[in-house]
Amino acid sequence: MTHAPQTPRPRVEVNFAQTWDAKISTRALTPSDFSSSTDKHRLLQIRSSADAVLVGVRTAIADRMTLGLRDPDLREQRMRRGQPEFPLRILASRSGLIPLDLPVFHSEGGPIIIFSTSAMPDRVRAALEPRATLHLQTGPELRMAEVLEILTSQHGVQHLVCEGGPTLLRSLLASDMVDVLNLTVCPRIFGGRTAPTLSGPAGEFLSESRRWRMERMETLDGECFLRYARTRD
Ligand SMILES: NC(=O)c1ccc[n+]([C@@H]2O[C@H](COP(=O)([O-])OP(=O)(O)OC[C@H]3O[C@@H](n4cnc5c(N)ncnc54)[C@H](OP(=O)(O)O)[C@@H]3O)[C@@H](O)[C@H]2O)c1
Repeated sequence: MTHAPQTPRPRVEVNFAQTWDAKISTRALTPSDFSSSTDKHRLLQIRSSADAVLVGVRTAIADRMTLGLRDPDLREQRMRRGQPEFPLRILASRSGLIPLDLPVFHSEGGPIIIFSTSAMPDRVRAALEPRATLHLQTGPELRMAEVLEILTSQHGVQHLVCEGGPTLLRSLLASDMVDVLNLTVCPRIFGGRTAPTLSGPAGEFLSESRRWRMERMETLDGECFLRYARTRD
C-alpha cells in the first residue's frame, strides 16, 4: 500500500488547565488564571522548550499575554541549548481584528508572526506590518495545515507549543495535528453549559475520537499534571 507524502509540520504540543468538570474557562471567557503558581511556572518551562508559541487572538486578549519568558533562567537555558533567547510568538485570527494595544506588541519577546485571512481590514494590516510578519490566506477560513507548513518551511519551527484557546485547539484536533497534550486538572468546579471545555463550547462531534497514551502524571499543590502523547495505531 502506498501512503501520500506527509507535508512537513512541527511537532505540536498543547498546554491547558481545566477544572474537575472539564471547563477551561468560565461562560464569560474570563482570564484562565485558576491554576497554581507551580502550574504557571510549568507552563513557562514548556513554552521555553519550543521554537514558537501559538495562541488564538481571543486568548491573547483575555489573558493579556506577552508570550515572552519572564524567567531569565529559562532564557539562559534556551541559549545554552543553542536556541534564540525567546520562542517566536504566533497569533491566529480569522477576522484579522487584532487590537494594537495587546501586551504582546509592547513587551519583550520573540519576533511576532500573525496568521489571518484577507478579511483583515487594510487599516489593521498597515498598523501591524511594522510590528509583525503577516501571512494572510485567501478565503474566509484559516487553513491550519498551511499555517503549520509555513511555520516549518519559512520560519524553521520544528516544535510548536499551542497555549489555546479552545477554538484554536478544536481546529487543530479536527485536523488531527496535536501530538502532545499537557493538562493540569485543578480542584475547582465552574459548572455552566456554555463554559468551554478543551474542544470549545458544546458543538459537533469530531469526525472520530482521538486517543492518547499517558506519559507522565504528577501531583503538586493539590493539582494533577498529566502529559499524554497521541496514539495513531
Ligand atoms: N484554561 C486554559 O488552559 C486556557 C488556555 C487558553 C485559553 N483559555 C481561555 O479560553 C478563553 C478564550 O477562548 P476562545 O475559544 O475564544 O479562544 P481562542 O481559540 O484563543 O480564540 C478564538 C479566536 O482565535 C481565532 N482563531 C481560533 N482558531 C482559529 C482558526 N482555526 N482559524 C482562524 N482563527 C482562529 C479567531 O479570531 P477572530 O475572531 O479574530 O477571527 C477566534 O475567534 C479565554 O477565557 C481564555 O482565558 C483557557
